[in-house]
Amino acid sequence: MKIAMVGSGYVGLVSGACFADFGHDVVCIDKDQSKIDRLHEGVMPIYEPGLDALVESNVKAGRLSFTTSLAEGIKDAAAIFIAVGTPSRRGDGHADLSFVYAVAEEVGESLANDAVVVTKSTVPVGTGDEVERILKDSGTTHKFSVVSNPEFLREGAAIGDFKHPDRIVIGAEDDFGRDVMHEVYRPLFLNESPILFTERRTSELIKYAANAFLATKITFINEMADLCEKVGANVQDVSRGIGMDNRIGSKFLHAGPGYGGSCFPKDTLALLKTAEDYDSPTRIVEAVVKTNESRKRAMGRKVLDALGGAENARGKKAALLGLTFKPNTDDMRDSPAIAVAQTLTDAGVIVSAYDPEGMEIAKPLMPDVTMCDNPYTAIEGADVVTIVTEWDAFRALDLNRVKELVAAPVMIDLRNIYNPEDMRSAGFTYASIGRN
Ligand code: UDX
Repeated sequence: MKIAMVGSGYVGLVSGACFADFGHDVVCIDKDQSKIDRLHEGVMPIYEPGLDALVESNVKAGRLSFTTSLAEGIKDAAAIFIAVGTPSRRGDGHADLSFVYAVAEEVGESLANDAVVVTKSTVPVGTGDEVERILKDSGTTHKFSVVSNPEFLREGAAIGDFKHPDRIVIGAEDDFGRDVMHEVYRPLFLNESPILFTERRTSELIKYAANAFLATKITFINEMADLCEKVGANVQDVSRGIGMDNRIGSKFLHAGPGYGGSCFPKDTLALLKTAEDYDSPTRIVEAVVKTNESRKRAMGRKVLDALGGAENARGKKAALLGLTFKPNTDDMRDSPAIAVAQTLTDAGVIVSAYDPEGMEIAKPLMPDVTMCDNPYTAIEGADVVTIVTEWDAFRALDLNRVKELVAAPVMIDLRNIYNPEDMRSAGFTYASIGRN
């Protein structure tokens, strides 16, 4: 089966490469000529473990190709996926759908055969209806069906998530749409991945409900962590204690500096906007968004406290280990590190940092921070070392070397990757999240 993937960013490229690996014939399309040129040379536009090898082997096998021409790319495709960005619209948090609609228009103008048009981009309820209207208005004579098929890919684990999904959600309104999607996902069907067929609007909402629920779970445990610090309890044991209840589940109960990334912040805001538009308030999600935002800044203040408070921090040195919103990605979008760095530099603290993949993208976002080649250079002369992202490289630091290099052995561990007793016996003043 021939599949066209319009948009060769994170979702489009991972999905396209995985579909090709399943044996489909895939063309990834993107307007950005330099991105397509680099893909032809085997250079990935994003950092995702395993993606370069997957792309290379499928290009070699002749199942995966790249083009800037949408008309050429969608020719003969039975399924045309729209996988372009839906950033938060400036000002109101509504998802910006201009890229999705522009693609729909171009598809309508160029359609040369019957095809199913699938929105993989995260789009608010009703977007599929609008895409359908645009295609109808284009005057195309070919049969088409508009389907919703949201992605649930975690950055850093996207290929595994694609190939072994917890579930596949397909929102289709007719048999043509359902039948083609059945073929597209047949290889996963054979792997017994659960597939939920539903209506298009329901499918669109499932994606937002899933991300809002996960963001809520994280924010809940983060607030419990604050309470643990006050009452002298241990949040990790609280997580275990509640997570063993099957109704709650153990995942996404890891307390930290607040969620970030390309999905949760943007999708929760977009859900709030939809709720407002339909006059159906989602107060829990409202609270989650506010709580998470203020938490990121609170993490900066936690570091300032270790420096004797904002009024005494000027001229002191702080080192940040990890900048990306989570490990195994170079993605800096809405990373808590940005708010932490800002709070520190605002108070006159001299900040240095190291991140295995994120520094190039982080640099313009935190111009006053000195980026270093490795963790040990970053901590030289520091009055406080803060672990912001739990990269494996920080899990087993040479603590004797750290102690020799820093000005004061003070560590703030925002990801709870060290054991408080071990750190104290190693001679550190150590603070973490939700543990005494
Ligand atoms: C998320 C969803 O998991 C995915 O299904 C969706 O399609 C896109 O958004 P991603 O943003 O890549 O994926 O990362 P994820 O691993 O889910 O982490 C999101 C954020 O939550 C990170 O900032 C992470 O550090 C934080 N987090 C996650 C916690 O603070 N605690 C947890 O227990 C889990």
